[in-house]
Amino acid sequence: MIKKCLFPAAGYGTRFLPATKATPKEMLPVLTKPLIQYGVEEAVDAGLTTMAIITGRGKRAIEDHFDISYELEHQIKGTSKEPLLTEIRSLITQCTFSYTRQVEMKGLGHAILTGETLIGNEPFAVILADDLCNNNGNDTVLSQMVKVFEKYQCSIVAIEEVPQKDTHKYGIIAGNLVDNTTDTYRVTDMIEKPDPKDAPTNMAIIGRYILTPDIFEILEKTKPGKGGEIQITDALLEQAKQGNVIAYKFKGKRFDCGSVEGFVEATNYFYNKMKD
Ligand code: UTP
Repeated sequence: MIKKCLFPAAGYGTRFLPATKATPKEMLPVLTKPLIQYGVEEAVDAGLTTMAIITGRGKRAIEDHFDISYELEHQIKGTSKEPLLTEIRSLITQCTFSYTRQVEMKGLGHAILTGETLIGNEPFAVILADDLCNNNGNDTVLSQMVKVFEKYQCSIVAIEEVPQKDTHKYGIIAGNLVDNTTDTYRVTDMIEKPDPKDAPTNMAIIGRYILTPDIFEILEKTKPGKGGEIQITDALLEQAKQGNVIAYKFKGKRFDCGSVEGFVEATNYFYNKMKD
């Protein structure tokens, strides 16, 4: 059973400067909810209630968001505004939140390794909150992945097909189809952000993972890769060489809210849904 979800949220969010100068990227709202709240809701929907968040300098607003604000609650108690806090209150009641800081931003792989003290020796999920996923009220992406994990009991990455010209923005996998009814592949190769001409496929890893805990030992030995950062893709390749990584083409939509274009697209999508 997977109980814990790790949220690496220490990145600088440079694509959103100056908004992210003093505000964590994960706190940018799509409509009225910050990105990280969507992520926590997705984890809860998949049955996970222990949230482990990797923060960094200037990210304190995340901790405050998942805490009670007595003064504010007192002010709006009994008014028409009170229901606006219902969802966040329910998350605070259902979940436990723990935090650790990544002191130096040495990449996603390093951020995940920093989370070892919060996760321990058990399989866990990872959500990158800037990849906002929605499946229109059906099984969320993480719920779908938990089912895949229950079947294969190894690390799972969520993938989607991207235009070949965009492969340099993603970790790209190659693999053998193991189940065409669920679109699952046994991964044989993975490359971080390859040039389109070097990409083995156009199947890109998005910000949802389920990882087995041996990943920590591998990450400890993983040397900096693309961009001088410790890459989770490089560590996963070690597991893939043992046949221990499954890629799953998820059902639903994903918005890259780490980019201005994706963020605007997500905002329009959720606004139209709200109006309907
Ligand atoms: P990104 O590649 O989106 O980097 O990180 P970023 O710093 O957040 O944003 P840009 O590219 O500068 O605009 C992917 C995920 O990994 C986390 C980020 O917080 C994001 O969720 N991350 C990245 C860390 O937690 N630590 C790191 O050292 C790097």
